[in-house]
Parts: sequence; C-alpha cells; structure tokens
Amino acid sequence: MIRYLTAGESHGKALIGIVEGMPAGVSLTAGDINEHLARRWLGYGRGGRAKIELDEIEILSGVRFGKTIGSPIALRLENASHLKDQSNWPNVMAVEGDGEGIDKVTLPRPGHADLAGAQKYGFDDIRPVIERASARETAMRVACCTVSRTMLRELGIDVASHVTRLGAVGFKMPDSWREHVEELIEQGGAPAVYQAADKSVVRMLSTELTEAATEHIKKAKAAGDSLGGAYEIIVTGVPVGLGSYAQWDRRLDGRLAQAILSIQGQKAVEIGEGFAGGSTPGSAYHDPIIKNQGGQFVRASNYAGGIEGGVSNGMPIIVRGTMKPIPTLIKTLDTVDIATGEAQPTRYERSDVTSVPAASTVAEATVAWVLADALLERFGGDTFEQVRTRLETVC
Ligand SMILES: Cc1cc2nc3c(=O)[nH]c(=O)nc-3n(C[C@H](O)[C@H](O)[C@H](O)COP(=O)(O)O)c2cc1C
Repeated sequence: MIRYLTAGESHGKALIGIVEGMPAGVSLTAGDINEHLARRWLGYGRGGRAKIELDEIEILSGVRFGKTIGSPIALRLENASHLKDQSNWPNVMAVEGDGEGIDKVTLPRPGHADLAGAQKYGFDDIRPVIERASARETAMRVACCTVSRTMLRELGIDVASHVTRLGAVGFKMPDSWREHVEELIEQGGAPAVYQAADKSVVRMLSTELTEAATEHIKKAKAAGDSLGGAYEIIVTGVPVGLGSYAQWDRRLDGRLAQAILSIQGQKAVEIGEGFAGGSTPGSAYHDPIIKNQGGQFVRASNYAGGIEGGVSNGMPIIVRGTMKPIPTLIKTLDTVDIATGEAQPTRYERSDVTSVPAASTVAEATVAWVLADALLERFGGDTFEQVRTRLETVC
C-alpha cells in the first residue's frame, strides 16, 4: 500500500527517498521528520560523523500547505560530509571523471558487505560497496518511514523503543523492565517510553545500566573493539486485524521480522517472548483470553507480542531486535588484500564503537511503516478522513 525507495551513497551529494501511497490529508512537516532524524544520532560511542551531519530533510513534492496530497512524496537529505569533509573524502564518489588520484580500498572487513559486494558486482575497489551498504542509508529510511509514523500518530497508534542490552550489559529478563514500561505508557503513552529512553546516552531505561553500559563502551573503545546489543519496540493503539493468516506474505509477524532484519547489522528478531517460547510449556505461555469491563476481548498477558496467526490481536505489539558488533574496529582482524591476494590485517576507518541506540530508532521507523502499510490494507482510502472513519467504524 505504501512503497518507499531510497537512493544515495554515504559520501555522495545527497540521499533521496520517494514515498508512494500515502492518503491525502495527512499533516506532515519537515520538522516531523527532522525530530526523528536527530534521534538517529543518539548514543554514546558514535563516531565522528555525528558531529558533521546536520540531517535536515527537504520535502520536494507530495505535500501542500502542510498536508499530503496523495502524490508521491520526494525527500532529499544533503550529505554535509560531502561539502565539509573533503580533506578526508576528496570526491570519492564523483559522478564524472576517471577516479585518478583516488586510492582504492582493497582490504575487505570481515562482517561487512565489502568482500561479497565486490565479488558480486565485479569491483577491484571496495569503495562503492561501503558507500551504499553502510548505515548512512538508514537516515533516508527513517525519513521515509516517519511519513507513515506521522499518519499512525494522528490515528492514536504510537511506536517506541528502548535498548535492553549493550554488549555484556543488559536487563536480565523482560520482566525486569516490563513494569517500568507499563508505568511510562500509563503516564504518557508509547511516546513517554521513547522520550524516557532518549534521556539516557545509551537509550536504556535504567540509570545503573546506563552507567554500566557507558563504562563498557569506554573500555571497548580503549581496547579498539566494538559492541552489539538488543532493543525492544513497542506499538500501542494497534487495532485488531492488521495482517492476515490467509497468505504467507500477509502475516504481520513475518513482515515485521523482515523490516528489522533489513536494517544493517540486525541479526535476530523475536515477536513477544518468542525465544522463551521454545522452553516454556504451553499452559504458561499462551495469553488467556478475558473480557474487560467494556466488554472487549483482552489478554491477561502478552507473551504473543500482540500478534497471533499473523494478525494483530489488539494488545501492544512487541518486537525485539539484536544487532551484531560493528565490523569496523581499531583492533585488526584477518583479511586478504583483493588486489594482491596477500594476507593482511584490516585497516581502520572512522566508525562507531556501537550503534545499538541508533539502530533502535531506525527499527522504530521501519516498524511504523509495516504497521501503516497493514493499516491501509484494512482501512485504506484515498483520503486520511476516509481512513479515520473506517478505522473508527470497525473499532
Ligand atoms: C545506525 C547504524 C549505524 C552503524 N554504524 C556503523 C559504523 O559506524 N561502522 C560500521 O562498520 N558499521 C556500522 N553499522 C553496521 C553496519 O552497517 C553493518 O554491520 C553492515 O552493514 C553489515 O551488516 P549486515 O551483514 O547485516 O549487512 C551501523 C549500523 C546501523 C544500523
């Protein structure tokens, strides 16, 4: 229903996005998108690029007087590094010329797209692979998906995230953060969760863990190492019936997993208590069905993470993602020079020590897109008012 595409390289002129399928009449400003682009730079342990990029979106089409008009929305994000950082990156992605004087990158990093990408596209220089496979692309992804998020927000559907693990530091069990998250949701809905997380330099909902994680990152940095971690996404206000069991590619859980795993470096996903489900008996796992005082079907627990049979069941949607450690390290790894075939140690380029806090904000955005897409399948119309009316009529 809503399609989006991104284009652009890390050190090219700009990133470009096109979002198609938004109904007319959704309020949208550059400020809505910039707020979430700024959140993508959060996190202790980020590399130098955070200080360079401004990330201010330009909306080129599809919006008139602050509202979408049903036409494709074109977005542009300047790579400030293209202008400001010429000493480090002198025209490495020049569109014209023959690349004379530009050093080739020939040492592929284990864990990155470098070697597989160069082999696939037949490059003798890894630079074009790094430029497109790197997570700079996620800036435009956040921008495109925030368009969906803005529509969800107007319909009372909110997405939040918080980091649950950074390397060796993390909450022991979901139960240890569940109460705190529920309190925050009661106070201010899902936005209260992401706003509380944003106050921590590692986006963790615990002062002690924030301190421990910061120390852990400092030590990893001093040792020339990098860290991965995990996060949880929570979506509130989701109506019953998004997604379908009727066909494999309509299942909401599968679509959410794909959205998370499509983000650079994300290696595992669970829906609700997915991993624990492998070792918990059915009698303790499945969420009992009860009727609340308003006569609605609700669940006594939410181990299913708000999805059964690939369909949203009206409980908050819970999706958790795990990110591997950053592949660019000061500590060297074994590699082979693709030009000479000689065994070599890897070489370091400016990089984050960890990007888990940032990845959690990117995951929020991609989850918002999946839900907006599924929402329009069920309640869609050409105008936002039609969508709202259909949603209110059914729910
Ligand atoms: C927000 C974000 C920032 C990242 N920053 C870096 C970085 O600075 N250096 C790096 O080597 N990898 C970084 N990564 C991870 C790589 O993009 C990722 O490990 C690489 O694309 C290979 O992952 P894949 O095998 O899942 O494609 C970042 C990922 C995300 C989501």
